[in-house]
Amino acid sequence: MKRFYSVAPMMGRTDSQFRYLIRLISEKTVLFTEMIHSNAILYGNKNKLEEYSENENPIVLQLGGNDPESLAKVSKMANMFNYDEINLNLGCPSPRVSNGGFGAAMMNHPQLVCDCLNAIKENFNKEVSVKIRLGTDNNDIDETLDNFVKEIESCDIKIFYVHARKAILKGLSPKQNREIPPLNYERVRKLKDDFPDLEIIINGGIKKLSFLQDNDLQNLDGIMIGREAYSNPLIFKDVDKKIKGELNRDISMYEITQKMFDYFETLENESHVKRGLIHMHGLFSGHSEAKKIRVLLSNSVYLKKSKNEILSILEKNIIEAA
Ligand SMILES: Cc1cc2nc3c(=O)[nH]c(=O)nc-3n(C[C@H](O)[C@H](O)[C@H](O)COP(=O)(O)O)c2cc1C
Repeated sequence: MKRFYSVAPMMGRTDSQFRYLIRLISEKTVLFTEMIHSNAILYGNKNKLEEYSENENPIVLQLGGNDPESLAKVSKMANMFNYDEINLNLGCPSPRVSNGGFGAAMMNHPQLVCDCLNAIKENFNKEVSVKIRLGTDNNDIDETLDNFVKEIESCDIKIFYVHARKAILKGLSPKQNREIPPLNYERVRKLKDDFPDLEIIINGGIKKLSFLQDNDLQNLDGIMIGREAYSNPLIFKDVDKKIKGELNRDISMYEITQKMFDYFETLENESHVKRGLIHMHGLFSGHSEAKKIRVLLSNSVYLKKSKNEILSILEKNIIEAA
């Protein structure tokens, strides 16, 4: 699997409906699920693993949790579906997550991380990866990051998605901790220099596909984009062209809209349609009629009417541009 371009896992965002939208724009971009805690699958919604459609690959299932036994069970179940990779979340700093002893808090317990990763690897037939931060709280990232990565590498994990800032486990909200402390791309470059055999994908503040070239970070293996992917999904429209040998899909905003509404008609659950409509907002960012389109997207009852009105706005633009 080529991990040059990935959409970061985002709770409340990277659900099946958003992934459907991105897949219309790019076939090759790697998609992630939202983080799912292993116990939420075992003791809650058993059908959660089924919530993806056949056209979503390459897709990574992101798991949260710190219990090797639960992670092993869920990883075994995941084989029944078509996930290409399981990723263990070691980067989430939220108080709920760190009080539960998983996410970024686990970076302080590398042996536990290895136990969890071994449990996943022994039960899942495809690749296993981690998503990490540069460290936590007052750790000295020069020392602790390399030690941590060395330990994880020793349990045969080779794929690291690195959010290029520390996790602050106390005193900041997760939202604040996506802006503070500042990003440190240089540290990620050095990590790859120190561990050239690892696949290192950088994450944090990326707004352009040309990020690695623009920042002289070509030694890294790929980029992962979160918030910008959500607010401007068309950022991925050139991905297939950039990946050697693939043609650009060149799908228009009109076609994407049409296909999204066709897809909504196949969904049985109205809340999924509502989420899908919200996920479409970013598609029109920068459009002169964005405000009007967003109002139309807030109506999940008269879908056909909204679809026709949005398409006629987009058609008018095409005619005006011709
Ligand atoms: C709304 C939201 C939800 C997120 N949920 C997750 C998650 O479930 N798992 C995870 O590893 N990171 C999660 N993140 C962090 C992102 O994956 C990413 O690391 C972070 O947003 C930095 O990348 P960006 O600057 O490109 O947005 C979330 C971020 C946002 C904004």
